[in-house]
Amino acid sequence: MEWIKDRDETRGNGSPIKRLGTLAARCPRRKVQIMYKRKLGKTGPLVSALGLGCMGMSFSYPPFPDKHAMIALIRSAVERGVSFFDTAEVYGPFTNEELVGEALAPFREQVVIATKFGFDLDPKFDPRGMKGSPGLNSRPEQIKEVAESSLKRLKVDAIDLFYQHRVDPDVPIEDVAGAVKDLIREGKVKHFGLSEAGVQTIRRAHAVQPVTAVQSEYSLWTRAPEKQVIPTLEELGIGFVPYSPLGKGFLAGKINEHTTFDRTDIRNTIPRFTPEARKANQALVDLLGKIGERKRATPAQIALAWLLAQKPWIVPIPGTTKLARLEENIGAVAVELAAEDLQEIEHASAAIAIHGARYPENLERMTGL
Ligand SMILES: NC(=O)c1ccc[n+]([C@@H]2O[C@H](COP(=O)([O-])OP(=O)(O)OC[C@H]3O[C@@H](n4cnc5c(N)ncnc54)[C@H](OP(=O)(O)O)[C@@H]3O)[C@@H](O)[C@H]2O)c1
Repeated sequence: MEWIKDRDETRGNGSPIKRLGTLAARCPRRKVQIMYKRKLGKTGPLVSALGLGCMGMSFSYPPFPDKHAMIALIRSAVERGVSFFDTAEVYGPFTNEELVGEALAPFREQVVIATKFGFDLDPKFDPRGMKGSPGLNSRPEQIKEVAESSLKRLKVDAIDLFYQHRVDPDVPIEDVAGAVKDLIREGKVKHFGLSEAGVQTIRRAHAVQPVTAVQSEYSLWTRAPEKQVIPTLEELGIGFVPYSPLGKGFLAGKINEHTTFDRTDIRNTIPRFTPEARKANQALVDLLGKIGERKRATPAQIALAWLLAQKPWIVPIPGTTKLARLEENIGAVAVELAAEDLQEIEHASAAIAIHGARYPENLERMTGL
């Protein structure tokens, strides 16, 4: 397999799939996989059309693989053209940023690393709510302290994209944006992002410091951002980064009602992942499988290709700990869904009622603020 990187989709010289087809036609014996780039919002950097979510390597989905294996996996992603990597202070906490920093140190100039601040961390307490409600802290002085620590853990001079992980109701968003603006002025941060913020917050933040990207959950079974968030981002020229684009693995079709998770896996707390809900929600995976058969693609590839087809400024960040799945997911950029395919997915998925909420109530309450 030959990996072709750095094709710039934004140059507008035909669809990436057509260009891939042209390339393959010119060299019929070469097995090529292309990775093209997208611009993250009007002011953002060019990044690979698919990023890599690194959270699951040290958080949320235990057991966690060996650190050296994950360093090798992240580097394999770079070799395959992935240039956008997602981490957060809270993943671990702290250890995921260290892992990403070590893995990407040799490729600093080629990659864009996004991290996040905003949880009130005590390493003895699981901030994701498995042992209680997570606390938030986006006070300006805290943001600046976190930035200093993240810079060290990531081994970089500047954080490429610094998201507020969750809106802190106790701190006006203008103060948060102001703190990030200061960090940008000092050269410690390049771009500002928000995660799971509501549209009023996005507008208020953007008025103080232009927001480059918003990261929220979005996939075929979590479509709430379509109502207000995506139209607002389009209007303001802000990029969108869908997290959990494979529905925390479910949409890839390898999880069924009999699958068991590690005792501390977050999916045990998610209503959508009860065995009954999984059984009912299988209908959506079956739909992806049906479309995939026609397109010679896997359900995961259809789920990602569907996201890529929604807007040219959407950059999903699927997470995996396995090389074969990384390659499978990258393969989604070569899956072109025609208007009829998209209509079929729209029509058929509208008839499937998703069972169970995407988050337990205490975590859902922290979103859309
Ligand atoms: N901003 C936020 O609040 C927030 C919240 C959650 C996540 N995120 C970010 O978004 C990234 C992605 O989200 P996510 O990890 O929650 O969910 P995801 O990407 O939808 O799914 C990850 C899960 O799918 C499995 N998987 C990946 N590719 C697969 C394939 N081709 N076939 C079968 N299974 C596959 C992975 O297992 P294996 O490892 O075994 O492959 C893992 O369990 C995270 O890494 C994190 O950086 C952000």
